[in-house]
Amino acid sequence: MLIGVIIGSTRSPRVCPQIAQFILDTIERSKSYQELSEKPLLKIIDIADWNLPLYDESNVPSQIKRSEDYDHEHTKLWSLEIQKYNGFIFVTPQYNWGYPAALKNAIDYLFNEWKGKSAAIVTYGGHGGTKCNEQLAVVLEGLRMIPTQSRVLLSFPDRDTLYAAASGKDLGLSSNPSGDLWTTEKTQIEATFNELFESIVKTQDL
Ligand SMILES: Cc1cc2nc3c(=O)[nH]c(=O)nc-3n(C[C@H](O)[C@H](O)[C@H](O)COP(=O)(O)O)c2cc1C
Repeated sequence: MLIGVIIGSTRSPRVCPQIAQFILDTIERSKSYQELSEKPLLKIIDIADWNLPLYDESNVPSQIKRSEDYDHEHTKLWSLEIQKYNGFIFVTPQYNWGYPAALKNAIDYLFNEWKGKSAAIVTYGGHGGTKCNEQLAVVLEGLRMIPTQSRVLLSFPDRDTLYAAASGKDLGLSSNPSGDLWTTEKTQIEATFNELFESIVKTQDL
């Protein structure tokens, strides 16, 4: 089983890669994951690496069944990448009460590659990104994906942390596993992973 951990922001500097890595590390260190006899592989997908232009395909993606039928090489490659995964964890900041346009653009490029797959949503911001968490769930449902009921909302505890995140400073998340930030949220991350894992097993008959 392969699970993609999608980095939802693309600006430079940014904090999202640190948070995506924290999610991945928290899952891999969790009791639930450790006890699995067949452990899923978690792999980071950074949409910034894909450098996708603003949507420039001539067709509606739901009508495309094969990667080779897309117009552009960047879409064909993005399609082949997303096809590889059994499920996803979207990790995204809240931008002005929504999620970043770059993430929506990357999502919109494809349809059948997402369809039927389970997904967990992790959002962060001053108030945990509650608004964009809900919005992303609606979009994933539109793609006929299966979002987990359990969600992860990571709130920056104070202004200093928010500013440190905004300037891409090291929040010491993964380098210091017993650090203070988001210790209680680790239980929620583990519960969300468990739901995602079970959903993938159930829906994909794995
Ligand atoms: C365009 C933009 C809009 C933002 N809007 C919000 C917001 O609505 N709510 C919030 O809590 N933080 C907001 N922030 C602050 C972000 O939470 C913070 O900058 C965070 O580091 C963004 O994630 P990133 O570094 O991965 O881009 C915004 C930041 C940017 C760049």
